[in-house]
Amino acid sequence: MRVGVAGCLGYTGFELVKLLDRHPNITLEVLTARIPDAVKKDPRFSLLLRERNDAKISTLEDADFSACELVFFATPHGVCMEYAKKLFNEGIKVIDLSADFRLRDPKIFEKWYGMKHLAPDLLDEAVYGLPELNRANLVGANLVAMPGCYPTSVILGVLPLMEEKCLIKTLLADCKSGVSGAGRSANSSTIYGEVAENFKAYAIHGHRHLPEIKQEVAHVVNKSKEQSNSDKIDIQFTPHLLPMFRGLYSSIYIELIEVIEQNELTELYKARYADEPFVRILPKGVLPETRFVRESNEIHLYVNKFEGSSYLNILVAEDNLIKGAAGQAIQAMNLVFGFAETTGLK
Ligand SMILES: NC(=O)c1ccc[n+]([C@@H]2O[C@H](COP(=O)([O-])OP(=O)(O)OC[C@H]3O[C@@H](n4cnc5c(N)ncnc54)[C@H](OP(=O)(O)O)[C@@H]3O)[C@@H](O)[C@H]2O)c1
Repeated sequence: MRVGVAGCLGYTGFELVKLLDRHPNITLEVLTARIPDAVKKDPRFSLLLRERNDAKISTLEDADFSACELVFFATPHGVCMEYAKKLFNEGIKVIDLSADFRLRDPKIFEKWYGMKHLAPDLLDEAVYGLPELNRANLVGANLVAMPGCYPTSVILGVLPLMEEKCLIKTLLADCKSGVSGAGRSANSSTIYGEVAENFKAYAIHGHRHLPEIKQEVAHVVNKSKEQSNSDKIDIQFTPHLLPMFRGLYSSIYIELIEVIEQNELTELYKARYADEPFVRILPKGVLPETRFVRESNEIHLYVNKFEGSSYLNILVAEDNLIKGAAGQAIQAMNLVFGFAETTGLK
């Protein structure tokens, strides 16, 4: 199958190209960059494309995707929504790693992203690309909105507590990411001198991933067998910047509605994720670490009930560039096109 990657020089774009290059069903047909010559000069690409130099490289404006069945957008928000309609009308599927199609309400998108939505009529078409949540809806989908890196960790961290019956009263997500989460474009707050030997919170008055987490929590809770009102859950989220390149770690504190013992909780998580190829519940005493998921599409979870307390602590580690972005996008692609879900990812 022929695919295109828009934004191939970015952090997630390059991870996509690497993963697609070794995927047995894929030919890289088109790569885009704002300066096409920069691709072949880029040392990462000169190594990777040495034996596969047949991909067409152009700007996004000039790209000819007509031979592609699928185009990935690994571009900043605001770009995919400009091109999605045309591709959709030509029958070319789109998987967008940006936030353009994540929020179902264009007004909420406009409020948090500060720009007008250019394709609100496509929002109903978009499937939120979290395979563990939306596996059936992804099959054959024309437009997939990949989740943000923080929401992936938070939603997978709490999903078993919401699906059958909502057990959550308060959800406090204390999340940390390596600097690659901010992308490759030069930004003084993520350069080495500002990040090394330092640790800080940011966006404490509101991060764009908060409405996404709230939307998906509401979606799960409102369709759970025992109807609940998701508005009753108090959800808060603080992101932090880690002095490292890749890796994301979330400590999620949950106040439960009713007391549940540790054994029951562990069983709930194990049962929910038993058939998930990329979600691993770690055994007692083995805590998640970012290095154990580095360059992997696995997400590691640990569920801990504080003794004598109604609070739980769920620890989650993922690679923001893989399960938080490019790997999860390949997982979604496999489902969309009917390839085995783990193809190219194990
Ligand atoms: N980084 C993460 O951990 C992560 C995780 C999940 C989702 N995401 C999302 O994935 C998307 C890409 O993130 P990233 O971290 O890979 O960003 P990045 O490293 O900054 O790369 C973005 C790429 O988009 C290209 N680009 C920028 N403006 C463009 C425009 N107007 N038209 C066409 N191409 C344009 C740039 O191309 P040139 O290099 O050619 O200039 C750049 O290579 C973002 O929407 C981000 O929010 C990122």
